[in-house]
Amino acid sequence: MFYPEELIEEIRMKNDIVDVVSGYVKLQKKGSSHWGCCPFHNEKTPSFSVSGPKQMYHCFGCGVSGNVYTFVMKYENYTFPEAVKLLAGRAGVSLPEPEYSAEARQRADKRTRLLEVNKEAAKFFYYQLRTPHGEVGRSYLKKRELSEETMHRFGLGYAGKNGAQLVRYLRTKGFEDELIKEAGLANYSERSGLVSQFWNRVMFPIQDINHRVIGFGGRVMGNGEPKYLNSPETLVFDKRRNLYGLNFARTARSGNVILCEGYMDVIAMHQAGFTQAVASLGTAFTQEQANLLRRYTDNVLLAYDSDGAGIKAALRAIGILREANLTGKVISMKPYKDPDEFMKNLGREAFEERIAQAENSFFFEIRILEEQYDLKDPEQKTRFHRETARRLCGFQEEVERDNYLQAVAEKYFIGVENLRKLVLNYASSTGLARPIERPKTLVHQKSNPQENAKRAQRLLLTWITDMPNLYDKIKPYISAEDFTEELYRQVAERLFSDLEKGNYNPAGIISMFEDEEKQREAAELFHTSLPELTTVQEKEKAFRDILLAVKKNSYEYYTANLGADVNALKQAVEGKKALEGLAKTHISLE
Ligand code: CTP
Ligand code: MN
Repeated sequence: MFYPEELIEEIRMKNDIVDVVSGYVKLQKKGSSHWGCCPFHNEKTPSFSVSGPKQMYHCFGCGVSGNVYTFVMKYENYTFPEAVKLLAGRAGVSLPEPEYSAEARQRADKRTRLLEVNKEAAKFFYYQLRTPHGEVGRSYLKKRELSEETMHRFGLGYAGKNGAQLVRYLRTKGFEDELIKEAGLANYSERSGLVSQFWNRVMFPIQDINHRVIGFGGRVMGNGEPKYLNSPETLVFDKRRNLYGLNFARTARSGNVILCEGYMDVIAMHQAGFTQAVASLGTAFTQEQANLLRRYTDNVLLAYDSDGAGIKAALRAIGILREANLTGKVISMKPYKDPDEFMKNLGREAFEERIAQAENSFFFEIRILEEQYDLKDPEQKTRFHRETARRLCGFQEEVERDNYLQAVAEKYFIGVENLRKLVLNYASSTGLARPIERPKTLVHQKSNPQENAKRAQRLLLTWITDMPNLYDKIKPYISAEDFTEELYRQVAERLFSDLEKGNYNPAGIISMFEDEEKQREAAELFHTSLPELTTVQEKEKAFRDILLAVKKNSYEYYTANLGADVNALKQAVEGKKALEGLAKTHISLE
């Protein structure tokens, strides 16, 4: 654990979940809960509930749940330690330095130093842009129609003609030459010593999602080569895993992300109000970036340049998005070159329309493909049809494939049956696009005993957290050992020991786990949907069934593990007794 558990708890208790969530979501009180529209999925009627007594939230629409930490983590896309920091700050609790190993400490120190020197350099460039020397930069950016506010928001700057100045400044701030070099801010030469990497350029600081400067792009003002010069990769600057503008885009909540090619595109888009725009960092869009985006959206709109290179890049990006299971659509910039020029000429509303008209990425691919063939020539036309069929085979799922097949056939005046035959031929000759064999959902499967046992354990935990006074009644029959899922057992152990102490506190249990996936799973334990029953008799029967299922599973589990588990014999014997006892007992829910 990064921080002591008591501290984590203290911070959690000082941040009332209703207060914290209210800062992000409009909530209304109804009964003991507050309700609002879920910030984690799109909805118009509130199904997101925040419970003061439980200090947890749960969305009945999309199923997310958790405590104040997981809320901040999910909303801000923070790691657990980052969420702890934010909430500690909010509650005025000071945090001790987290503990590291010596090696980790050194690496962390280096990262910290690199981020510090970058930040200082960014400040230097920013300041330079606002001096008389920086006037060239300022007028360049003004000519490109950026407002003062936009320049400020993106921290734009200027690297002057005197390459020694930056180095001198950084030295006075206590940075060693070695670090300045390692940050990619300066290069050493025999003749001039250490001089700035960037020279007479307007500067675009590149920030990570937490607004920390990790590198720079510098543009010549006018014509000159290279047009953009970027920082080299460093310990803190990984071009494959960051996106320009994501620090703002991640909280845009627009339901999509607009992927552009250039820094200026992103800035122009944000200035026009499309704060969901991002761009890759002077390199082609990567799989890692697609995975990064998937944390925020599953809907990516490509706003790439309309020229040949842009189309090629878009085709590549589409493949990557598909690989990452993201829906890609293509926005047309025509007749303009890129989003920046589009915005200057046609403006925000026209762009909104373009978003609405964005083309499905598969249709985009086929349209580009078509341009390569002369459809008046029967042979070329046949080849176009074959290639289309081949691409349709890329859809694994039959229904989806057939839907696309029909749409494409209609669009390009191909007989549906002919195209279908081509697809089948291609599929059978290559073994591709076999009819899907996997079962569609679990519903059609024979129920799985292990899954059933897990479900019973989850239901029992939810039921107890909903009605904590039940604990005393079931205590004689159930112990944490009956939860055969490791994570469930840990949760039960803590829950039961809290209840013993009269200290009912499910939200605290979630933060026992450092791993985010486990926190999510633990949170879900308290929100399994209980069967909807009306009469007390029905409820009592359901509860009893669940109890018996948990107990029976535990008995079977330990019986099967006799010999392998020192605990097993005791558990099995006690389990048998408890089962017999339960059979004779009525447990009232009132
Ligand atoms: N790029 C780069 N190095 C270059 C040219 C381009 O790193 N020599 C990267 C930059 O990240 C740039 C992006 O590719 O933002 C797109 O380049 P391009 O389309 O040529 O430029 P624009 O973004 O249109 O830039 P501008 O509008 O300033 O000309
Ligand atoms: Mn441009």
